[in-house]
Amino acid sequence: MTYGPLRKKILITGATGYIGRRLQIRLLENPAVDLRLLVRNRNKVNPQLGHEMEIVEGDTFQQQQLAQAVAGVDTTYYLIHSMGAGADFERLDRTSAENFRDACIAAGVKRIVYLGGLGVKESASKHLLSRIETGEILSARPAEIQTIWVRAGVIIGSGSASFEIIRNLVQKLPLMITPRWVTTQTQPIAVDDVLSYLIASHDLDYQGNLVVDIGCGRMKFGEMLSEAAEAMGLARFIIPVPVLTPRLSAYWLLLFTPVPFKIAAALVEGLKSETVMQNDHAVRYFPQIRPIAYREAVLQAINEIEQHQVLSRWCDSSGGAVCDITTQEDIAAAVLRDQRIYDFGDIAGEKIYAALCSIGGESGWFTYNFLWKLRGLIDKFFGGFGLNRGRRDPTDLRVGDALDFWKVVDLKPNKRLLLLAQMKLPGKAWLEFDLQGHTLIQTAHFYPRGIWGRLYWYSVLPFHFLVFRDLIKKIVNQAEKKTST
Ligand SMILES: NC(=O)c1ccc[n+]([C@@H]2O[C@H](COP(=O)([O-])OP(=O)(O)OC[C@H]3O[C@@H](n4cnc5c(N)ncnc54)[C@H](OP(=O)(O)O)[C@@H]3O)[C@@H](O)[C@H]2O)c1
Repeated sequence: MTYGPLRKKILITGATGYIGRRLQIRLLENPAVDLRLLVRNRNKVNPQLGHEMEIVEGDTFQQQQLAQAVAGVDTTYYLIHSMGAGADFERLDRTSAENFRDACIAAGVKRIVYLGGLGVKESASKHLLSRIETGEILSARPAEIQTIWVRAGVIIGSGSASFEIIRNLVQKLPLMITPRWVTTQTQPIAVDDVLSYLIASHDLDYQGNLVVDIGCGRMKFGEMLSEAAEAMGLARFIIPVPVLTPRLSAYWLLLFTPVPFKIAAALVEGLKSETVMQNDHAVRYFPQIRPIAYREAVLQAINEIEQHQVLSRWCDSSGGAVCDITTQEDIAAAVLRDQRIYDFGDIAGEKIYAALCSIGGESGWFTYNFLWKLRGLIDKFFGGFGLNRGRRDPTDLRVGDALDFWKVVDLKPNKRLLLLAQMKLPGKAWLEFDLQGHTLIQTAHFYPRGIWGRLYWYSVLPFHFLVFRDLIKKIVNQAEKKTST
């Protein structure tokens, strides 16, 4: 297939997710490509890149927006899944893929590039089965649209869920008692190599559907842990035992890694079966791409984390069919509030805003950190994220970023930061910081669910009194310190 000298119009779906965010950066480097994104919330698009791309707001369940997104496009990337949407994810994935394929055919799109998972149907987990079904649906009408289905196993990159699990286990546990599945074979791959295959897929001169399995050398999960330890210069001992059930293993991951129970359970389920390449199409059709070795991928990921160059994280997606980016109206509906107002005098507003944007993560919450940690542990206990997600970058925030157990839902430079609580709560909560003239207004909003919601709010009032009273002062102190240095 050749496209001649014309510019090529490419659509990325899932553009606010782990792979999609990185793919858009790489595709923007190609001057012959016009990029369009389909996103559920345009505020989540990287503001530095937004003006370089066309953005269509919508999702794959809304036919009209879908038609608008694919109109005039040559190639589309399908990087969507509904795993975070709850028990119904398989049905949603099916409908989403059918809608997308049909919209592409109706618009005359030539090619869909889809990234799915490695593995075979016979031993696949529920999640992998749904990924396989998605690939089958997208490729079901080859006479009308071509599909290149790239299949990857464990992706190693800064911020990927699998790598965060490996990194946390290795860094936190000198001795690891592991389930038997550490002997399961797998073929991991560096995230940059995944992107290279995806990018090369839009240019590939090939007729008809193609499935391309990608990965570096074969290894056992246990070897992934020990090689990562070696790469990090740590001595670690792994003892596989037969008694660790998948449920226990998931609790284990919950305790020591940033992933919540639902994701841990799905990953453990996936680890039980082999995820190795079933074809040699990667070397046959993309001989120019030489995937780097696992150890190198680990070192690259660590380097990105150390250099604060994490471009995307596993928790960037909203994780549900309904986007978590809320509107003002939601907050207005909150019936319980804790509001603090502080006059910060002649400190520059930008300094206050910069201090606001550096809360949480490794530097903590400026005050009563033990109470924040305790709240994080309670959240973990109930299957939530706890504080372990930390932050993507120590000072930079963007809409959609996870920040401990919060999600950034609004950012107005030097004006406002709004966080939505993602901890397990009997209600909905936000923490808002507003800069008005020389005043900082900090408001915790809570919309309780029934009597339990109200009981929760009143039972934590004494803690709120301490934490919120001091938080606003400490933010101003922090800004003051920065001003005087
Ligand atoms: N990450 C890995 O380690 C890995 C490994 C192997 C294969 N893969 C495959 O790679 C693909 C992308 O994965 P990922 O890790 O990048 O996913 P991700 O981080 O969870 O992102 C999912 C993206 O899909 C969007 N989305 C979900 N439902 C949508 C809908 N109905 N309409 C429009 N957008 C929707 C989300 O938007 P919001 O931001 O609004 O939520 C988000 O941008 C998947 O097919 C996955 O199976 C990933």
